[in-house]
Amino acid sequence: MASIKKVGVLGCGLMGSGIAQVAAQAGYDTVVREVEQQYLDKGFKGIEKSLGRFVDKGTMSAADRDACVGRLKGTTSLADLADCDIVIEAIIENAELKKETYVQLDKVVKPEAIFASNTSSLTITELSMATARPKQFVGLHFFNPVPLMKLVEVVRTILTSDEAFDSAFEFAKSLGKEPVACRDNSGFIVNRLLVPYLIDAIRAYEEGVGSIEDIDKAMQLGCGYPMGPFTLLDFVGLDTTYYITDVMFEEYREKRFASPALLRKMVLAGRYGRKSGAGFYDYASGKPSPMDRK
Ligand code: CAA
Repeated sequence: MASIKKVGVLGCGLMGSGIAQVAAQAGYDTVVREVEQQYLDKGFKGIEKSLGRFVDKGTMSAADRDACVGRLKGTTSLADLADCDIVIEAIIENAELKKETYVQLDKVVKPEAIFASNTSSLTITELSMATARPKQFVGLHFFNPVPLMKLVEVVRTILTSDEAFDSAFEFAKSLGKEPVACRDNSGFIVNRLLVPYLIDAIRAYEEGVGSIEDIDKAMQLGCGYPMGPFTLLDFVGLDTTYYITDVMFEEYREKRFASPALLRKMVLAGRYGRKSGAGFYDYASGKPSPMDRK
């Protein structure tokens, strides 16, 4: 099995910064690459905030936090990922952009390194074929918020070698995560089951089954879910969910993956959820206020 010592992360957004953080926390030298310094600065601020919460809670010492930050390096140059043993890509969910990035990455990173994508719905096989190393290509799908969520879906294609898959699986464990093995089907395990549930909640609301708050409360208290579907939709991002439904509908051609009209309208209206300040709830004034309460 390939021995992983140095980790590269592409993208320092919500997912990329979280992945870089957990890699550095697990003791790996970690290089994270963004296209512009301002995105690195924003991502590193998020990492410091998250680590600060662990220190405040007493689950991490200040010395461990400093050591973790010391293992993290930000860069805007792909060449700085050259000697990484694994590179995890977490850039925006655009297949063409991802493939272009992989072509560049393939040229600069050592040939024995494993490539992984954190995509939540795109086909790993298609991304892997942009490189000369489809046998060393896997999906490593993390969940938001990455520092807290235990699961990682480890995805193999029909081309992935046993060695690369096993290394990626062990790597996920070494991050303190619980990996599960998935085949390369759009949405893997979680989104295949989660996305129809989330968009069905929107349909239920459209049909007047209940208010946003009551549907959330029902699923939280009735099923023990940590967040109701609308709170979770706002947390994941409505634009992200809309994009995932599109990709999954394209792959499966099943109505259960089709976006409801309201989701599309919310995205058109710029109501992306927490990140834009409003989605199914408005976050302007401290306590989230549901959009249907007049
Ligand atoms: N880093 C460090 N600590 C964090 C943190 C972060 N990024 N985010 C929250 N915390 C800490 C908080 O400080 C808080 O600490 P205390 O207990 O000491 O107060 C603790 O975690 C709990 O946070 P909150 O009180 O704010 O809220 P919570 O109890 O609701 O827990 C949650 C937050 C863990 C996110 C929980 O609500 C949850 O599990 N929600 C569901 C998340 C989920 O389903 N994620 C998957 C989304 S789907 C996806 O990601 C895949 C995809 O492809 C779309």
